[in-house]
Amino acid sequence: MAKISNWLIFLILISTSTQTYINEDILKECQVPYTVKNITRTSQGIVAYASFNPSSKLISDQNKSHTIQKLTINITYETSERVRIQIKDTEHSRWEVPKVVVPYNQTTFEPKYDVMIDEDPLGILIIRKSDGKVIFNLDPNSLFSYNDQDIAFFNILDYDIKIMGFGERVSNLTLNRGEYTMWSRDRCSPIDDGNNPNGNMYSVHPFYVAIDEDFKCFGGFLLNSNAMTGFVGNSYVGYRTTGGIIDFYVFVGPTAADVVRQYQEVIGFPALAPYWSLGWHQSHWGYNNLTIIEKIVDLYMRYKLPLDSIWNDIDYMTKFEDFTLDPDRYPHEEFLAWIDHLHSLHKHYVPIIDAGIAKQNYSAYNEMIQKELYIKDPYNSNPADGVVWPGDAVFLDWFHPNTSDFWVDQLIGFYNLTEFSGIWIDMNEASNFINGDFGHPATIINSTTMPYTPGEDINTNSLDVASIHYGGILEYNVHSLYGFMETIATNRFFTENLNKRAFVLTRSSFPGHGRFGSKWTGDNYAKWEYMRYSIIGIFNFGMFGIPHVGADICGFIGDTTEELCTRWMQLGSLYPFARNHNDNQALPQEPWAFGTNMLETSNMAIRNRYFLMLYIYTEMFFTSFSGEMFFKPTFFSYPYDRILYENVINHFMLGKSLIVHPCLWKGVSRADSYFPGDIWYNFYSGARIKLDKTYVISLEMPLHGLINIHVRGGSIIPLLDSADTALSVEELRNSNITLLVALNSNLEAAGRAVFDDGISSGTINEGNYTRMDYHWRFMNYSTDILDIQPINSKYESENEFPHISNIKIYGCSSLPKQVEILIDNRVIQGSIINDPGLIPDVCKIEISNSNGNFSPNRPSQVIFRY
Ligand SMILES: *[C@@H]1O[C@H](CO)[C@@H](O)[C@H](O)[C@H]1NC(C)=O
Ligand SMILES: *[C@@H]1O[C@H](CO)[C@@H](O)[C@H](O)[C@H]1NC(C)=O
Ligand SMILES: *[C@@H]1O[C@H](CO)[C@@H](O)[C@H](O)[C@H]1NC(C)=O
Ligand SMILES: *[C@@H]1O[C@H](CO)[C@@H](O)[C@H](O)[C@H]1NC(C)=O
Ligand SMILES: *[C@@H]1O[C@H](CO)[C@@H](O)[C@H](O)[C@H]1NC(C)=O
Ligand SMILES: *[C@@H]1O[C@H](CO)[C@@H](O)[C@H](O)[C@H]1NC(C)=O
Ligand SMILES: *[C@@H]1O[C@H](CO)[C@@H](O)[C@H](O)[C@H]1NC(C)=O
Ligand SMILES: *[C@@H]1O[C@H](CO)[C@@H](O)[C@H](O)[C@H]1NC(C)=O
Ligand SMILES: *[C@@H]1O[C@H](CO)[C@@H](O)[C@H](O)[C@H]1NC(C)=O
Ligand SMILES: *[C@@H]1O[C@H](CO)[C@@H](O)[C@H](O)[C@H]1NC(C)=O
Ligand SMILES: *[C@@H]1O[C@H](CO)[C@@H](O)[C@H](O)[C@H]1NC(C)=O
Repeated sequence: MAKISNWLIFLILISTSTQTYINEDILKECQVPYTVKNITRTSQGIVAYASFNPSSKLISDQNKSHTIQKLTINITYETSERVRIQIKDTEHSRWEVPKVVVPYNQTTFEPKYDVMIDEDPLGILIIRKSDGKVIFNLDPNSLFSYNDQDIAFFNILDYDIKIMGFGERVSNLTLNRGEYTMWSRDRCSPIDDGNNPNGNMYSVHPFYVAIDEDFKCFGGFLLNSNAMTGFVGNSYVGYRTTGGIIDFYVFVGPTAADVVRQYQEVIGFPALAPYWSLGWHQSHWGYNNLTIIEKIVDLYMRYKLPLDSIWNDIDYMTKFEDFTLDPDRYPHEEFLAWIDHLHSLHKHYVPIIDAGIAKQNYSAYNEMIQKELYIKDPYNSNPADGVVWPGDAVFLDWFHPNTSDFWVDQLIGFYNLTEFSGIWIDMNEASNFINGDFGHPATIINSTTMPYTPGEDINTNSLDVASIHYGGILEYNVHSLYGFMETIATNRFFTENLNKRAFVLTRSSFPGHGRFGSKWTGDNYAKWEYMRYSIIGIFNFGMFGIPHVGADICGFIGDTTEELCTRWMQLGSLYPFARNHNDNQALPQEPWAFGTNMLETSNMAIRNRYFLMLYIYTEMFFTSFSGEMFFKPTFFSYPYDRILYENVINHFMLGKSLIVHPCLWKGVSRADSYFPGDIWYNFYSGARIKLDKTYVISLEMPLHGLINIHVRGGSIIPLLDSADTALSVEELRNSNITLLVALNSNLEAAGRAVFDDGISSGTINEGNYTRMDYHWRFMNYSTDILDIQPINSKYESENEFPHISNIKIYGCSSLPKQVEILIDNRVIQGSIINDPGLIPDVCKIEISNSNGNFSPNRPSQVIFRY
């Protein structure tokens, strides 16, 4: 077998990077050019030292990036479900990413994996004990390099896998065979099929979930912030990065949900979003003066449409200067009076802040210059100069120890000016309309000088990557961290100064972002295709630990149409973050923009979200509490149903209990719809879906109507009665509750609800919430019992969600004859309703609450006698 030199391999990699992927055979014909000298094994891991093997010496242009001679390999068994592999230069320190990994406590455990190491050449093998499958194989006979600007390693398996992850891009959920660039870049949603080296977008998430042929999963995460490529093959997955170290985590799975949780244990579970931010948001670039934006809110009120927050894009600023409010178009006194009015309606204001600070004589700029808080150009150490909306702009250096305080101070001043409730940070890739520093071609580091460039020159739409941060850190190493570090500083304003949960919406993100902020998927198009891809974007960010995510509803760029916008309102009203937003060049697309049909449909869609708000809040709580997914592919809940891996956007799960079949195609109003093998009821009517052995039924998908949602048998869901009339989620807090009980085949059901103040930041850490579990049990043919029990009960509120008004049972065979509610040893009777509007198998019980407090957040027991 011909042994191909690494030089040749790199040549192949480079020459194919624009059209095709590397060849699996070639990958396996290489040799790892390092030999292990010394291995120490302990119960906590393996430490080994390796040296470059001169007989595999790299030749020719590898001199541009010197080969690291000695490597320290540190394999740590961090938990029973994950292994960390760090490979560093033994003799010199190299760039390592800060602030991402959450501390963990070493405990004793029985690992669910075995780790083996090969010595000559170096190899590392990890086997999942439960099924003996290899989940990581750094094959001694495979491509591996550890050069200064060029590090590559592969996980080569002897079975086929599908890969999800490697964000951010517009792609399918499982990635085609190909190469995927990861480097933060401001780019309007190019489609990336694995053959588009410039398909990389705003965020960087070098995490993957691999799914094997038996639908078992494992995961990998390369903690590295340099520009890199992720490789996806039929039976391999790998990375080639332009710097840093190998700091790689392996997760054993074995389900996708397990891998996601195991990953989030490393990067941290997401922060709770403020309750209000789960409501409905309206935005538009072009709310150009106070009169216009006031009118938008007035129209929401006039049409009795719920609204929780109104947004401003860069329209409000003076000359696009951050932290200013244009005195002519947004007169301050009138503006604050309007904000007071908004707040009296329980509505919120969220303005945008861009990354580039205008190079103008004004306070934010002057102070940042005076304190030297800027990124420096590599030529004269002046502020690195880019061009964005205000023209010339300079950029904060988040590595300077005083930058975060400066930022918080600016936000304090800006809060005084605008009393915002959340902050939208944009352009933070950080984006630059020119390539590199204004007036200087990028000559120190560029695609000519780099031994390997993922995608196009990394100076494209970036500050010069040779720009310098505090402590001499190169932009080259930290470019993709800009948005993440800006989010951390913005988060501080809310948590430290307002003592509240933060709502920070970002465009650029990095692993760990979810602990500090939310995310939208950036500039999409008002096209059907982009509505479809939005579902995958939301799946992905859920996996990346940023569950509070949404796409611009109705589309950002270009004119939407009534049909597309109506369908997008139906779908988008179920996004975790739900905001209608578009470009200043595009036609208006507020819910009334196309007349009464879309207005009515939008109103129904938003109110439907409101009916579910306590459920949504509760399920989102569990993303923060234990790393569950909220808006997820259906196969996350039914991993062994192979059909669910096809056409993954045709349906999705919202939390544990709801499946949604959106309408994603122009001109379609009925579609064959697949259901996993389970009991499903129509969410609205309670009609049980009758599945034959194809598990496919044809669902009507009316344009002027509600999206298809079905409830999984075995669920209890609290619904908010006031959703009919409320105009903000705040008003829902006074709502009575209808408990929807959907029985499974054992005639049982369970559910949960979390109650807290929705805004304080310590809720989970302090246990400052009440969690109730609802459990419906079949006792015998004459008795059922519903138990309402607290799991935690630190949050008390007399008047929020005061009463359970109704219990609605899906799948009941007959109305009970008698209902007794036991609270504090007292008995209340419920009245049984024979509502002719109800269909067979749906029972409704109205609770007359005059002599007691039957509430969703206090313990009780309900006995149903037949
Ligand atoms: C091997 O490593 C251990 C510590 O990890 C060190 O004490 C020992 O000297 C090393 N031996 C050689 C031959 O390098
Ligand atoms: C590569 O580096 C080695 C040692 O530093 C040197 O001897 C050799 O001439 C260099 N090769 C090229 C092609 O520059
Ligand atoms: C290996 O990693 C562990 C855990 O991070 C650390 O405590 C230890 O010092 C490391 N050992 C070496 C040789 O780097
Ligand atoms: C680690 O242990 C400390 C001390 O026992 C504890 O306070 C902390 O909560 C633990 N952290 C984690 C992540 O379990
Ligand atoms: C995603 O899958 C669909 C259906 O198979 C296909 O038409 C489309 O080209 C794929 N998109 C990408 C980016 O691979
Ligand atoms: C606000 O902007 C709109 C549209 O550009 C314009 O018609 C209107 O006159 C402006 N109002 C004020 C008070 O500037
Ligand atoms: C900046 O503006 C202030 C007043 O706003 C003025 O006094 C000062 O001269 C200006 N500085 C420059 C350099 O233009
Ligand atoms: C807040 O704004 C008012 C004007 O509305 C101004 O008088 C006051 O100085 C500002 N306070 C701070 C702390 O910036
Ligand atoms: C990179 O910089 C070199 C000088 O160091 C210059 O000759 C070359 O043209 C630059 N290449 C690009 C793609 O900018
Ligand atoms: C706990 O919740 C209460 C509201 O019920 C709030 O006033 C308090 O500040 C919260 N405490 C913490 C530490 O978050
Ligand atoms: C909530 O339920 C209580 C008790 O049944 C009832 O008195 C009250 O009118 C209900 N509130 C609303 C808004 O329906």
